[in-house]
Amino acid sequence: MITQNPTETSGKTQWENLILSDIPNLQKIDTYVSNGGYEALRKALDMKPEDVTDEVKKSNLRGRGGACFPTGLKWTFMPKQTLKAKYLCVNGDESEPGTFKDRQIFELNPHLLIEGTLIACYAMGIPTAYLYIRGEYGKWINMMENALADAYAKGFVGEKILGKEFSANIHVHKGAGAYICGEESALMNSIEGERGYPRVKPPFPAQYGLWGCPTTINNVETISNVPLIIKNGWEWYSKIGAPKHPGPILVGVSGHVNKPGVYEMPTGVPILEIIYKWAGGVPGEKGIKAVIPGGSSTMVLRGDQLEGVKMDADSMKIAGSAVGTAGLIVMDEDTDLIKVLTRVAKFYYHESCGQCTPCREGTGWLWKVLKRFEKSQARMQDIELLMDIANNIEGNTICALGDAAAWPIQAMIRRFRDEFEKRVVQTQPEVSEPAVS
Ligand SMILES: Cc1cc2nc3c(=O)[nH]c(=O)nc-3n(C[C@H](O)[C@H](O)[C@H](O)COP(=O)(O)O)c2cc1C
Repeated sequence: MITQNPTETSGKTQWENLILSDIPNLQKIDTYVSNGGYEALRKALDMKPEDVTDEVKKSNLRGRGGACFPTGLKWTFMPKQTLKAKYLCVNGDESEPGTFKDRQIFELNPHLLIEGTLIACYAMGIPTAYLYIRGEYGKWINMMENALADAYAKGFVGEKILGKEFSANIHVHKGAGAYICGEESALMNSIEGERGYPRVKPPFPAQYGLWGCPTTINNVETISNVPLIIKNGWEWYSKIGAPKHPGPILVGVSGHVNKPGVYEMPTGVPILEIIYKWAGGVPGEKGIKAVIPGGSSTMVLRGDQLEGVKMDADSMKIAGSAVGTAGLIVMDEDTDLIKVLTRVAKFYYHESCGQCTPCREGTGWLWKVLKRFEKSQARMQDIELLMDIANNIEGNTICALGDAAAWPIQAMIRRFRDEFEKRVVQTQPEVSEPAVS
């Protein structure tokens, strides 16, 4: 368990917010424009579309929606010559436990997101974009609708934008109230008015997406990075933070910290620095037992393995976890990890869409077996049973929700086996059935 403060390696005070800017009233279009807003769009429209994509590709921007996929590369998958319609879906479903950063963009800098959406549309020759926002985010849906109405009124969205031969429409779409609708193919089904079931891939969205047409899906924060790249150039952008995963990143810190919140920082800041320098440390100066670094689906890390681990894709991979959505959940030395895991397992059980048997059945079994541990009624073989169920879900489902349910279990058993063993009853109860009772 870690109790001491780490050496500061990237000063918090030196960082100027690029996405969650400190400029007051930036959500108002006049303030945004008078501070250089929509200039990146103007610049992009004077470039060739393929040069805009190239700029994003060279910047090394990687998706902020969970998988860290290179954004410029994804844009090149969009067919240039097609008789079909093309779509962009901007993913703001934001339903993973521990993740609450996109809503800060809706609230504090909605025009940056609109500007990024327009640049992305121009680069890929897309005339229509959907901004899919989590259904429970009523306040932020209203905010985005108001910002969009202002942008239409000023001629930044719609026909012949900025007097050029480029037209694009953006629609705000209210999410359907399920975590699965954040999965890109379920999201498209949801927009089409269908049940939010993930689709079998291939075909991938760039070939067969919304209404069977070529579609690109990007996260809200990813798209909000695009105006920064176009305005300042890829070389400037690629020097921010970790070279292979550069740029500003919004880290949502929750759990046992004195100052929970969303912090914008360069990628590559050490986790311990985020906890102690940015989020004010752990209440009562307690030690850290564990952290979940990137939203509930990413693998838990032990407090005593955090030294040198940074918030970037490579560093997290070496540590045995992932950046995910940079939703950092901190758990102090007194945390009941079995209780945490049982709650997480219940979430995935509840949110499984039920389409694939391993996920539909397995997530429920995981939760039920974990409840035995929670009540200190487990058998020693239940540890292996949990691992076995998780291993049989992982990789055997249409979408990654199954993996997201399995990874926290596998990692918790690997890194905190003692926590499970402590919950095993000495006198073994008669439990004959394997998982469900
Ligand atoms: C169950 C599930 C839920 C997801 N929820 C979200 C979400 O709320 N927001 C998001 O951007 N990506 C979410 N994703 C990832 C998307 O499928 C997709 O990879 C992402 O939107 C791509 O954007 P990016 O390349 O900009 O990161 C989810 C994936 C899964 C499997």
